[in-house]
Order: sequence, then C-alpha cells, then structure tokens
Amino acid sequence: MDDLRDKYLGLIAAAGDEAALEDLRVQAVGKKGEISLKMRELGKMSPEERQTAGPALNALKDEINSALSAKKVALEDAALDERLRGERLDVTLPGRGRRTGTIHPISQVTEEVTAIFADMGFSVAEGPQIDTDWYNFDALNIPGHHPARAEMDTFYMHRAEGDNRPPHVLRTHTSPVQIRSMEKHGAPIRVIAPGRVYRADYDQTHTPMFHQVEGLAIDKDISMANLKWVLEEFVKAYFEVDDVELRFRASHFPFTEPSAEVDIRCSWEGGTLKVGEGDDWLEILGSGMVHPKVLQNAGVDPNEWQGFAFGMGIDRIAMLKYGIPDLRAFFDSDLRWLRHYGFAALDVPTLHAGLS
Ligand code: DAH
Repeated sequence: MDDLRDKYLGLIAAAGDEAALEDLRVQAVGKKGEISLKMRELGKMSPEERQTAGPALNALKDEINSALSAKKVALEDAALDERLRGERLDVTLPGRGRRTGTIHPISQVTEEVTAIFADMGFSVAEGPQIDTDWYNFDALNIPGHHPARAEMDTFYMHRAEGDNRPPHVLRTHTSPVQIRSMEKHGAPIRVIAPGRVYRADYDQTHTPMFHQVEGLAIDKDISMANLKWVLEEFVKAYFEVDDVELRFRASHFPFTEPSAEVDIRCSWEGGTLKVGEGDDWLEILGSGMVHPKVLQNAGVDPNEWQGFAFGMGIDRIAMLKYGIPDLRAFFDSDLRWLRHYGFAALDVPTLHAGLS
C-alpha cells in the first residue's frame, strides 16, 4: 500500500494539466482503478486481515482523492495566474489616431438623470463599490437568512485565512448609499446615487456589472404622493414627452414598507417605444416608503422622519430611450458601436438646453 501511495502521490504532484489529472483519477480510484481493484480483493481475505486492510485502503483512497482535488485547485489557480499575466495591458501607452471620442450612453444617461433630479432639489451622493455586507444587506433590513441575499447573486471578496475583518462584497445595488448618506448628513435629506453595481449573472439582459440610480427623500411629512409626483416629473423629462401614466404595483422589498414597483404606459407599435400612450406597461423601477428599521440603522429617528426611496436601472432606461437592443454591447468597447451610439463630448445635458 505504501508503494501505491508513493506512486500516485508522486504522479499527482507531477501532473501538468487537468486532463492528465483526470487520467490519474481513473487509474487510481476510478471504477476499475488500481485501488478499487484492491478493495474488491477484501472479500477474499480472512476477517482479521480485512480488519486492518479495509480501513487502510479507505484511508489511502481518501488521501488520494484529497491530493487530486488539491492539485486540481492548484492547476486552476496557475492557469488563471498565467492568463492574468498574459492579458496585462499598459494603459499608459499613448493613444492612436485623432478621432474625437464620444460620450458613452451610460455616462450620457447618468448626466441626464442627474440634471432632472438636480432641478427637483436632489444632490448627488456616492458610496464605495466594495462595501461591507452590513451596508449592502443588514442595514437595509436584509438579514443573513433572507432570500434577497441569495437572489442577488452576490460577489464576495476573497479573504485570506485568519483575516477577521467583516465580509466585503461588490455592492449588489445602490441602496447602501442611502445608509451612508443618512449617516453622514442626517435628515432632512434629498439625494440620488448613480453608480456601478455587481451581480453574478450574464445573458442578453444581465451583465455582471451594471448601473443603478438610487433616490432618497426624507423629511417630516413626505408620502407616496410625493414619490408619485417626483417620478412622473422624472419620466416626462427623461423621455421628453408631455404626458405619462404611471402604474404602482404592490411589491415587496425588505427596505421599504409599503413597497411598489412602478410601470409606465407605453406602446411598442412598429417596433419603437412610445411612452405615454398605448396598452403596454413597462417596469422601470422599485420603490417605497423607507422602512423605519432602515432609518434607525442609519441613525435617523423614525418617530420624527419619514420618506421615500427608489432604485432604477440606468442601463435599462438607456436601452429604452436610445433603442439599444443588447445590454452586453454597452461593455464590449466596440469602437463602431461607440461611434454609433456615443454622444458629442461637449453637449452636456441640461434641462434648458435640451437633454439629448
Ligand atoms: N435595491 C433594489 C434592487 O436592486 C431596488 C430598489 C427597490 C431600491 C426599492 C429602492 C427601493 O430604494 O425603495 O433590486
């Protein structure tokens, strides 16, 4: 058995890639592997012999299995390191060509949204993209066992063993900026927080990094009616139409009570979106009255203050307004796409000069 151990541990250590490792696994512990065959011989042994050989063979099998998995992880890490080394890029190299750049649609839409809310007295707040799970979840009334945590496909930051700092995540939404803003400025407060957010998801309508804008208004007597007015003003200004109709659908978010998802009336006739007419409804955001526990967690007294919050997908409203069919194209850095959908650099969106 010692010979077998030495032989396989040596071979595993020397395996150069995952295919070689898989061959070894089959050879050693596969159905017809050397160790499995030995295990079959147990039946022919005397009970005394079996009593020592059985556990020893099992231990050997476990040892080889764990050597196989350890080596597999090591090979994967090495492959990733090698790839990262190969894909290194010197961003300080001078650019080529003289073409004027364009403003990315996401930047453009962020500016548009900011201009509209600034006109209604909202200032812009920011928070870190790597945040603690307290700000991203607990403070927003999403406890450890809450399904929202699992639903958000969170990216957790790697922690070295023995590192006892609180867990950090790539923020899954802009809602933690609500907490940070209230902690910093107290109430009353009126802010929007646009920025990047991250979830482990990838298809035509999901990318692992995307953008949201959070809204928060806290004062003595702010109600859902204020929320409705603010959102109507926003949608009219953003889609550049005179009339809109919003539909509030009862929903659930841990950080608001009551909660509503908001749809806008629209039509898709002829394949183009028209806002404010037609028989279709388009969901654009989640919202509600900020939960008293959230206020409390941010150091704001819920007996004195109340208000609304909302969270909206920037990429999504950019796709809608500018007729961009595939979300993934936003982040491909394809120059032809950027020239087609980009905006002139000096046309800063303002309400008086026109948004787009
Ligand atoms: N954070 C939510 C999400 O990413 C969106 C959201 C819903 C934000 C309701 C809010 C809110 O502020 O009130 O899915």
